[in-house]
Amino acid sequence: MTPSLVRSLFAVGASAALTAGATAQDRVEDLLSQMTLEEKAGQMTQLTLSALSSGRQWTDTEHELNVEALRKAIVEDHVGSILNQFDAAFTPDYWREIITAVQDIATEETRLKIPVVYGVDSVHGANYVIGATIFPQNLSLAATWNPSLSTIAGEITAFETRAVGIPWNFSPVADVARQPLWSRYFETFGEDPHLVSVMAAESVKGQQQAELNVAACGKHFIAYSMPRTGKDRTPTQIGMVELLDVFAPPFQAMIDAGVDTMMINSGEINGVPVHASHEILTGLLRDRMGFEGVAVTDWEDVIKLHTMHKVADSEKEATRQAILAGIDMSMVPYKTDFADHIVELVSEGAISEERIDLSVRRILRLKDKLGLFEEPISGPEHVQHIGKQASLDASLAAAREGVVLLKNENNALPLASGAKILVTGPTADALPPVYGAWSFSWQGAEAGLYPDTPTVLDAARTQFGAANVSYVPGASFNEELDLAAVTSAAADADAIVVCLGEPPSTEGPGDILELELEPAQLALAQAAIDTGKPVVLVLIENRPRVFTQVDAGAAAVVWLGEPGPFGPQALAEVLAGTLNPSGRLPFTYPRQNGSVVTYDRKWSEGSPEVFANGPQRPLYQFGSGLAYTTFGYSGLRVTDRGDALTVEVTVANTGERAGHEVVQLYVSDEFASVTPHVHRLKGFEKVALEAGESKTITFELTKDDLSVIDRTGRKIFEPGGFGFRVGDQATRIDWGN
Ligand code: GLC
Repeated sequence: MTPSLVRSLFAVGASAALTAGATAQDRVEDLLSQMTLEEKAGQMTQLTLSALSSGRQWTDTEHELNVEALRKAIVEDHVGSILNQFDAAFTPDYWREIITAVQDIATEETRLKIPVVYGVDSVHGANYVIGATIFPQNLSLAATWNPSLSTIAGEITAFETRAVGIPWNFSPVADVARQPLWSRYFETFGEDPHLVSVMAAESVKGQQQAELNVAACGKHFIAYSMPRTGKDRTPTQIGMVELLDVFAPPFQAMIDAGVDTMMINSGEINGVPVHASHEILTGLLRDRMGFEGVAVTDWEDVIKLHTMHKVADSEKEATRQAILAGIDMSMVPYKTDFADHIVELVSEGAISEERIDLSVRRILRLKDKLGLFEEPISGPEHVQHIGKQASLDASLAAAREGVVLLKNENNALPLASGAKILVTGPTADALPPVYGAWSFSWQGAEAGLYPDTPTVLDAARTQFGAANVSYVPGASFNEELDLAAVTSAAADADAIVVCLGEPPSTEGPGDILELELEPAQLALAQAAIDTGKPVVLVLIENRPRVFTQVDAGAAAVVWLGEPGPFGPQALAEVLAGTLNPSGRLPFTYPRQNGSVVTYDRKWSEGSPEVFANGPQRPLYQFGSGLAYTTFGYSGLRVTDRGDALTVEVTVANTGERAGHEVVQLYVSDEFASVTPHVHRLKGFEKVALEAGESKTITFELTKDDLSVIDRTGRKIFEPGGFGFRVGDQATRIDWGN
């Protein structure tokens, strides 16, 4: 009789309830000691809702749960986690119906009554909950350079996700955007490790410390955002120094912020799929970075070790490799073979039961920390607060702070009140591009699923008066429709607002072949420019699509990214001047397809002079953005306090109206044992200043902040010369000798 069978015989009627006085730790160990190997393997198995359904939710059909399949999965196959909607967003009440059915079966019909942990992608608000507060996508949130907005978005997202019974959120994306072709660029907080670290850590804190909290999930560990060709899930070739210097810091920041779970990169790094890399999943993530939570695979990535990466000649071998590499839970997600393979592998001695216990312990601890044993689904009383006005106001604030005014020639903006405006372009009268993917469905492309929020055209008409705003489509995303109509309509307009960009998409469906904007859109913009009327280009896009050929002719350029439901209103307010823009680019905007260099380049990629004035200089610099006022800097001073430096600078609002400046501190390591970046962002602070007001801002830097990853992969501080720059102020010191 196998030990697990013995355990099962003696554990009949056991319960997950905590015996009086026992600690959570005791409960986990107590449960573990009672579990059969099959039950343990089930806890490591995650199924998607569609595998447990007999009908999808869509514009024309209602979702139907397959209760029989659900019961088999939970009771017979001991499945411990389920994820996703299917296929469209559900109402709060229906979500609670689903989660209640899941938890009732798990806590009443299974031997040990262990609750299921349900996960979902609430990646810019609870985007699969009808009526929830939707936020700007992360890239647009990063453009605010306001960490507190990431905290607040995390809190509200957690509340509205948990309110419908879901305690685990596969967010935030902490990938660093270094490849603008990549389809998920918009899901990142941008190209800089420090800005991404701050925004990601604040999201984790917001989600996990919320009044109604969830387990956050840092993803996708690691360097998923760097496919060499830009195509999703294709190979990444990257050296250890760059991996540790660029891509690791945001994950370290989330670990330091206590992130409960991590999701693994589906791709390969230097020929090794991350899901099969003990060096990355155990050596780096656990041993070096100190992560102790649950590592969940991404979609079907154990199976893909066999079917896509072909490093395993069977799914069972793939299971062995992934578990020995260090994953805890497999997002299988359609079948339970993963669990069967675990039982076989342990029975054959290919994997020890102690290794399985390690993962199951982490999973049970997660469920315990989330309070699922006591309350498998949160109370219904929270549902009434989903989408409340204060939450909507937070999303509006984020949209307002994320508008980036990139160009404003001769003060073309703001437009005079009463101005006659022609609005045109593929993103002018559509919601899906404004919200982006992961909005009410995976790709976010089904307009019929969207709530009735204003498009750019609607918002312009509200702001300027419907009689003053005309509209001609002009072009779709990739076809010219009627440029002559634009030209003729322009005759009656004082200005033309040309809304360009991309349809929503993510992952493989979002792969593109050219970074340049579609020719039809460039032709539309040129036609508008050729009318001689001032043209305002508005960019609503997943990633920085190149539009250089029409940039020169535009009087103004405004970047929105995917700003969510309040983006159109925020844009209209900037166009009218009632909102003073304060967004700054969280990425470098390329001038040419072939000149994609991030701001923290190496000296061989361009000195400051070359990067500012050379032919391959960016179209718009990282951290740039204009306002309807001006700011000036003075008094930059660095004080050596031994183990730390204090950097002080005074920023003044030298214009005529109140505004927000993003004070950005860049540091240059003059010489290092590995090639130093020309400079790196080491601190930033968004400051509100009345006209004429000035403030002194102070940054504290430690030796860790100025450390490098050396040739052996160690993070070390190397004494020497350091340059400091804030705005047009610069200074240097020798430090650490
Ligand atoms: C997807 C994405 C990941 C998401 C997961 C569950 O493939 O890569 O970001 O959390 O599957 O939907």
